Parts: sequence; C-alpha cells; structure tokens
Amino acid sequence: MEPFRFHIFVCTQQKPEGVPCCPASGSFAVLGALDREIQARGLNHDVQLTTCGCMGLCDEGPVMVVYPEGVWYRRVQPSDVSEIVDTHLRGGKAVDRLVWTDAAAMKAMSVEHGEKFRAAMAAREKAGTLPDRLDQMVRGYMPSRCLLTALELDIFTAVGDGATAEQVGTRVHANARAAGMLLNALVALGLLAKSGDDYKNTAESARFLVQGSKDNHREGLLHTANIWHSWSTLTDAVRSGTRIPADLRNDARDGSEWTRNFIAGMQRHAKDRAPLVVKALGTAGVRRILDLGGGSGAYSIAFAKACPDVQCEILDIPEVVPLTAEYVSQAGVAAQVKLRPGDMLQDDFGSGYDIIMLNAICHMFSEEQNREIFRRATRALAPKGRLVVQDFILNADKTGPQQAALFSLNMLVNTDAGASYSEVEYTRWMKAAGFAEVSRVNLPGPSSLIVGLVK
Ligand SMILES: C[S@@+](CC[C@H](N)C(=O)[O-])C[C@H]1O[C@@H](n2cnc3c(N)ncnc32)[C@H](O)[C@@H]1O
Ligand code: FES
Repeated sequence: MEPFRFHIFVCTQQKPEGVPCCPASGSFAVLGALDREIQARGLNHDVQLTTCGCMGLCDEGPVMVVYPEGVWYRRVQPSDVSEIVDTHLRGGKAVDRLVWTDAAAMKAMSVEHGEKFRAAMAAREKAGTLPDRLDQMVRGYMPSRCLLTALELDIFTAVGDGATAEQVGTRVHANARAAGMLLNALVALGLLAKSGDDYKNTAESARFLVQGSKDNHREGLLHTANIWHSWSTLTDAVRSGTRIPADLRNDARDGSEWTRNFIAGMQRHAKDRAPLVVKALGTAGVRRILDLGGGSGAYSIAFAKACPDVQCEILDIPEVVPLTAEYVSQAGVAAQVKLRPGDMLQDDFGSGYDIIMLNAICHMFSEEQNREIFRRATRALAPKGRLVVQDFILNADKTGPQQAALFSLNMLVNTDAGASYSEVEYTRWMKAAGFAEVSRVNLPGPSSLIVGLVK
C-alpha cells in the first residue's frame, strides 16, 4: 500500500567535474520546478518528491522515475515539468515523448555503468589513490577563500547590473588581470554569470551579497573573513595551547569595523533563533530578564516583542553597547530593553531576574569562569528563576556534533581559554552552583538550551 498516489525519484548524484551526471544536466532545476508545480496545483498530499543517487543512466540525465507505475523519464528539462505534472500526475497518463521504454537498453546501460564504476573503484583501491573525500577536504578552503575575498573587496556590489573585469578592477581598486581571474573563479563557483566580457550577479548573489539589497548579508559574512586570520594560526595555537598573540595574528581585531562585522555576524543567526528560544522558554510569569553579552540584542528584542510586560537588561562591553542600541531602536523596543555597558566577569549582576540568558557566551570562557558566572547567577535570580545557556553542545565524548567540535577550535584560536562544552559538563557546573534542576531543550538547528532552575 502506497502512502502517496505517486512517488517521484529525481537523481541528484553529484560526480566529479567533467563526468556526466544528472546535476550537470540540470536535475536540481528540474527538482525545483517539480516542487513548485506540485505545490501550485495542490498535489502535495498525493505526490511524494524525493532525490536519489545514480541510476546508471548518467549520459541520459536528468533521470527521474515515477512510482508506482515505474515510469522512467530521461533528459527532462524544467520546461517539461508542467506537462509531466498535468498529464501524468493529474491525468494519470505518462508523457510518452520523455519516457524511456527500451527496458533492455536501460538495463544494459545501467549494468555496464555499475561494472565500470566497480572496476574504477577497484583500480583506485589497488593504486592507493587518495579518496575524493580527503582530497576535497584538503582543498576545501579554496572556494571559501574566493568568496571571502570577493566579500572583502565588495566584488558583487562592484559588478552591479553588469561590468567587465576592467570596470570591476577600477571600482574595487584592484589589478584588472587578477580581478578577471577572481571573477572567472566566481563564475565557476556559480556566484556570477559571464556573457562575452561582461559579468553579472546571479539572482542569489544579487539578493544576498550586494550592498543595499534587502537581504544583504555581507556585513555579517565579513566576520567569517575576519576570523580567517586566526584560523590560519591553528597549528601554532594547538602547539601552544591557546590563541597566539594579537600582533602575530594580523587580524585587525577590535577595530570598530571588526566589532560591527562581529555583531552583524552574531545577529545573522540570532534573529532566526530568538523566536524559537522565546517559544521554548515561554513568557508566562517572566517579567525581568538579564541578557549577558546580548550583542545585537536579538534575544531581548524577541522577548520584548513577544510580551509587553517583559523588561530586559543587556550587559555587554562598552564598544558593543552603541551597536546594540542601534538594533534595539530599529526594532522599536527601546522602552523595554535597558542597556548596561560593563564586564560580566566583574560587574554585579543585580537581583530578582526571572531569566538570565547566556546565548553564545559560555564557549568564550574557561570552565572556571563559567562556574563562577553560574554561581553568581543563582544569587541574581528570583525564586523559580532560570539560567539559560544556549550553545553548540558537544556529546559526552566531545567528538560531535561536527559543528560543535569545529567551533571548539574556533574558540581555541580566538579566545584565551574558551571551548565548546558538553551537556554533562554544563549540568555538573549548574548543579554545583546550586541549581535545583537542570534540563536540556533541543532547538531546530545546531544549538541547544541547557536550563537551570533555582528553588
Ligand atoms: C558570541 S557573541 C553573542 C551575542 C549574543 N548573545 C547572541 O547570541 O547573538 C558574545 C557577546 O558577548 C560579549 N562579551 C564578551 N565578553 C564580555 C564580557 N566580559 N562582558 C560582557 N559582554 C561580553 C561580546 O561583546 C558579544 O556581544
Ligand atoms: S548521475 Fe543520475 S543516473 Fe547517474
């Protein structure tokens, strides 16, 4: 029995550049078009659309199969999709011109492909060829570096509605020949398009990477470009056990531009997560919140918007507070969000809070610093108050999730004693600080909450 009337498999098996495969012939565009047409015609309850791996017919791609009939379509283009949806999924009749009916030929091609693939794998194994996974990981920084340099030079804004390499070079004060090389690489990465000598932004780049566009993320993404310099010092940091001195890092840290990018980078994630945190914690009985290291204020803003009775205080360092003030005022919640410049490691927290938040804070500090913050938080909370840590939480053996394990290294190269920590550690520290109950709340996405409740 099928839970859906139709189940469509679209091949999206990526292969090395130059090797025929369905994505190279446009299967992702077909997948997107199918999804849109299925939704538009209200067929989403009847049709299950999924991707699948190679079916051995790579020269005939994009390949897709429709079950329960087992109809194999080949060389499907986005322009064919509305006909497939109307004729097959609504009318129940396959689109003959696209159906591959020669089962014997299909089987022969698929079997031959499988045999060639296994023979190639066996030859590589015998020759001791480096696995693709390792090769790609070693060179993984190259596309990243291209994009970071393009962001630093503001290439996408310079390309604007279209420009030659010479024009872009002049606009960003760069060498025209080298700018052309970078622009060509950005075309290869699918971030620009080229026609003759003219480069254009793709729809994606125009939307997210051009200054002044509505969904421009450049400012926040530049934070990743900024921390590139410290990541380059990872080897020395592992040797020495902590970040290397600022003058050797070459990263212009703590300049006002650096701080603005840092806070924009934090806000990029925080503004999406904040409503999830508010929902997870609820606002019932919550009147006063202390937001330690609030940064852009995204979490306080979300609480203030969710409940007009909530009053928040954000404690952050003096360099950041003016930036916080901009975000808070833009959000129109200045009357509910008080800003306090200071140092959370030194300053008195105050008292009577229903919630104290530590969003993306604990990873900056050592175990001892966190334990001390937790101890001080128990005294600053009202009865039944909650301390909320939001962070990437490591498994007990600290080998995953991958993002938390990698982020730990981000703290090694960027802080004196920070790291990612595990639920076991946070729970132990909170209990030792005097919290009566400690629980974990998983959020959609990579971070979770650890919530400590005082009696
Ligand atoms: C990783 S950001 C997190 C910002 C915000 N909580 C969020 O999740 O978007 C860390 C924040 O802590 C602030 N901070 C770092 N050290 C601090 C200290 N000693 N006292 C107060 N704030 C501090 C930084 O300025 C920054 O805003
Ligand atoms: S890559 Fe799609 S059939 Fe082989």
